[in-house]
Amino acid sequence: MRTIAVSNYKGGVGKTTTAVNLATIYAGRGLRTLLVDLDPQASATDFFGLYERTAQEGRGAVGLLYGNEPVERSAFETGTENLSVVPSTIELVDQNELLLREQRLRFALDDCAEDYDVCIVDCSPTMKRLAFNAYLAAAGEGMVIVPVKLDSTVMRGTALTVSAIESISDALRVPTPEWRILRTCVPGLMTNAEATGAAVLDEYFPDRQFSTVIHASSKVCEGSWQWQPVTTFKPDSRPAKDYEALAEEVLHG
Ligand SMILES: Nc1ncnc2c1ncn2[C@@H]1O[C@H](COP(=O)(O)OP(=O)(O)O)[C@@H](O)[C@H]1O
Ligand SMILES: [Mg+2]
Repeated sequence: MRTIAVSNYKGGVGKTTTAVNLATIYAGRGLRTLLVDLDPQASATDFFGLYERTAQEGRGAVGLLYGNEPVERSAFETGTENLSVVPSTIELVDQNELLLREQRLRFALDDCAEDYDVCIVDCSPTMKRLAFNAYLAAAGEGMVIVPVKLDSTVMRGTALTVSAIESISDALRVPTPEWRILRTCVPGLMTNAEATGAAVLDEYFPDRQFSTVIHASSKVCEGSWQWQPVTTFKPDSRPAKDYEALAEEVLHG
């Protein structure tokens, strides 16, 4: 199983959009796919209509992380074939993150490594130790995708994220996961602001960007009103094609 975390300590940069589109694309290609929602805002959970059931049944990310529950008890099937989700709820914010073991997610995923081909982890922008769990799960064979929607406020979150990923090998002596910056919400026509942002990214991360970028389109937002990733909502749209290309680049370089 290959674990791909999607993380940026900045909100609203396209993490959840990237996570649900990649998970849907991989499942559609026949890969047994697990999506783990580590954000108490639970947007990825909402995409699959699982919030109420999660709250009622008391299963999901909280039990997996803090109750030592296995993935097989924490995951729900979805309406999408080959796609299971470990959902989140707002209860995740009430847990004491400092009590969370750094390797908990990694161990839980190791235990179900035979059951899935790919695992996508959608991270919260604020819960650093949860993100650390995700980076550790991605260490070695996996990858961290760092989505960046260019504006001046995004750079601090991005720099913090990258240094947290890089700190893993020092802290725990495991290999740093491969990480790549993904440009999201790229306008069709390059504005001056966009050109400035792109130049900053090129300066700081010259060799660490996906060649695929995700273009901006109102179809992404329209689809989300119907809880549909753009890849199924409007498969011919530009961002849907971009996400298909990204899915390929993530798996095969
Ligand atoms: N390529 C895109 N084009 C237009 N809107 C987008 C695109 N990607 C994301 N969005 C919108 O931006 C907002 C934030 O995206 P989201 O994936 O929820 O970010 P995050 O998970 O980082 O907070 C959402 O309203 C989403 O629909
Ligand atoms: Mg999100």
